[in-house]
Amino acid sequence: MLTLNNVEVIYNDVILVLKGMSLHVPEGKIVGLLGSNGAGKSTTLKAISGLLKAEDGEVTDGNIQFLNADIQHKDASDIVRQGIFQVMEGRRVFEHLTTEENLVAGSYTRSSVNLRDEIEIVYEYFPRLKERRHQTAGYLSGGEQQMLAIGRALMAKPKLMMLDEPSLGLAPLLVMEIFNIIKRINEEQKTTILLVEQNANLTLSVADYAYIMESGRIVLEGAPLDLRENADVREFYLGLTEVGQRKSYRDVKHYKRRKRWLS
Ligand SMILES: Nc1ncnc2c1ncn2[C@@H]1O[C@H](COP(=O)(O)OP(=O)(O)O)[C@@H](O)[C@H]1O
Ligand SMILES: [Mg+2]
Repeated sequence: MLTLNNVEVIYNDVILVLKGMSLHVPEGKIVGLLGSNGAGKSTTLKAISGLLKAEDGEVTDGNIQFLNADIQHKDASDIVRQGIFQVMEGRRVFEHLTTEENLVAGSYTRSSVNLRDEIEIVYEYFPRLKERRHQTAGYLSGGEQQMLAIGRALMAKPKLMMLDEPSLGLAPLLVMEIFNIIKRINEEQKTTILLVEQNANLTLSVADYAYIMESGRIVLEGAPLDLRENADVREFYLGLTEVGQRKSYRDVKHYKRRKRWLS
């Protein structure tokens, strides 16, 4: 459904951030994209959704294909209309609108909608949003705002939903609840999902396939089971959970090679 071939992205004409990024998202699947801060995950999503241009970023090489057509030079509004919706990092909601007004705003890209029915579908996934339907979104909790951001994406009925770190800053139980709902949306609404995360464990528990990126390119990919068994990945995950001392996958590999050589 979506394929990135050797995509290069440059910001402000000089800052090279994506250095040959390639990945594939098959229709109907959940694909995880893992990597630590600054790896280029958000840049990858913005390259796909066309939002890069608003930040003076540009795809300077490679191509992005969605349903067999090149989209790397299309406008963000075109790309939304083709069925790609990005849920931005940091749960951007319209703070001054109510929960329900936010949901209505989510359907703006579509011409004919049965609003009432579709809002009810969102409320089935997120009963808490129904309880808070008349509250101003700015006063919702962080978890509720994340739910609202996903609910708004649902209202756009995308073919491909891209989620940028939905677990960021949320309590573990809430994150599990949200990940279960992401899985249900994929299964019940048949929405293809590209899930960007730093939480490797949870991502591997819902994804069909996953990629690990570092410094603007993919360093490893595989089915969740294979990735979990990979010794380097285990160390990489441990590195991820160690606060303050975040090891990179390459450092781990380098260190292991040295260790093997020494022994
Ligand atoms: N608008 C921008 N202008 C210049 N550099 C940027 C911009 N946005 C991101 N970057 C740089 O690109 C790199 C990757 O950032 P990002 O894609 O946000 O990574 P991630 O989402 O994996 O944390 C970082 O070094 C960041 O500083
Ligand atoms: Mg990011």
